[in-house]
Amino acid sequence: MHVAIIMDGNGRWASLRHLPRSAGHHAGAKAVSAAVEAALRHGITTLTLYAFSAANWSRPGAEVSALFALLRRHLLTQTQRCLDESIRINVIGRRDRLPADLCQSIERSEQATAHCRGMRLRIAVDYSSQHSLVEACRRLQSEPDVDRARFAERLADVDHATAPAPEVDLLIRTGGEQRLSDFLLWECAYAELLFVDCLWPDFDQPAFQHALEAYGQRERRFGRVVADTLARANHG
Ligand code: FPP
Repeated sequence: MHVAIIMDGNGRWASLRHLPRSAGHHAGAKAVSAAVEAALRHGITTLTLYAFSAANWSRPGAEVSALFALLRRHLLTQTQRCLDESIRINVIGRRDRLPADLCQSIERSEQATAHCRGMRLRIAVDYSSQHSLVEACRRLQSEPDVDRARFAERLADVDHATAPAPEVDLLIRTGGEQRLSDFLLWECAYAELLFVDCLWPDFDQPAFQHALEAYGQRERRFGRVVADTLARANHG
């Protein structure tokens, strides 16, 4: 099962406590660890987290730098834990605009965990689904017989993904907004969408479990008619 999360609400969490936004991001990084733990416990095979969108470059420079520093620290401190749990780390998105020290940390964490066969932890940084889709199309221009599998491969190349991502089963967005914000538009074709009011730093292990329970109650039809609806229609 592939769960993707738009981690929204760090800023509001901080303002509610009269703290700077950076404090919200620090609390958000702790919530990342809790989410990884919860995902592991529930047997999630792929977890994709939206840490920094291409649109986030429009934030004040100090906030962007603080976010990158936090990401770098997270990679440095969490890679050993990922090794212990056999979690494979993969940072998806553009690399050409990231600071060199962050790129180095990303490469180190990816290489160190490349052999891990447990959960895949994908962290989206400088990510824009629209950019990736256009770039994948551009790269496919000279290729004949493009099908979905080939498209997904090119998309993975563009995103620096180690392999094409499985389709997202459940997309969670915290923070109360109900939009996709340019996240995994191809991979979410049949995803169940769950929008929760909880601010990201408050999204703890029970909240993760509630999200999975809500998902469990959804009926995924993938365009089909459910068997008993069909039976009722035939007898009615
Ligand atoms: C959105 O909240 C959140 C972000 C733009 C950054 C997400 C980053 C983290 C959760 C921490 C670092 C990540 C990792 C993987 C260690 P917002 O700032 O837009 O909140 P607001 O809508 O309340 O202002």
